[in-house]
Amino acid sequence: MSGDYGSIGRTLVSEEELQARITEIAAEVSADYEGRELLVIGVLKGAIFFIADLVRRISVPCELDFMAVSSYGSATHSSGVVRILKDLDIPIAGRHVLLVEDVIDSGLTLSYLLKNLASRKPASLEICSLLTKPGHKRLKMPTRYIGFDLPDVFVIGYGLDHAERYRELPYIAELEL
Ligand code: IMP
Ligand code: MG
Repeated sequence: MSGDYGSIGRTLVSEEELQARITEIAAEVSADYEGRELLVIGVLKGAIFFIADLVRRISVPCELDFMAVSSYGSATHSSGVVRILKDLDIPIAGRHVLLVEDVIDSGLTLSYLLKNLASRKPASLEICSLLTKPGHKRLKMPTRYIGFDLPDVFVIGYGLDHAERYRELPYIAELEL
């Protein structure tokens, strides 16, 4: 099968680089949240592999919850109009929340989520994104933890998909159309 799904282009972040950086981020998070309990909120589905690797290396007690959102728009560009497909299972008021994303592109999805979560009055709310692209700088997202800054290309692998394909790759590659 090819065509609609494109193909796997050059590797932008290798498996070794990903894993080493995730270990560093987990150490930073563990130090920053020392003495506190963390509620990690993942955005489905792209962030699942990142969250799974990250939380297993975090040393403070943590709970996990997930949201699923869809942003209207074409396959490779988000429109900024976000619909919640699955909301959180538990209330977050008074909790220390770390929102974990796969990639911040325009930042529109995240700015919507941030406003939505902030209105539920968590004790603290920080953002951790595995990847960022240059577009997000326009929105000046207060992203506390960033894995890698990428150029403005569409990427696949390690949770990120194109038409639901390629999530299972252990590295990040450029999509070739
Ligand atoms: P934003 O609203 O433009 O920041 O887009 C965020 C969402 O679009 C991400 O959480 C991804 O689900 C998706 N997305 C953005 N860029 C990519 C990419 O390069 N590969 C796969 N998904 C992407
Ligand atoms: Mg996503």
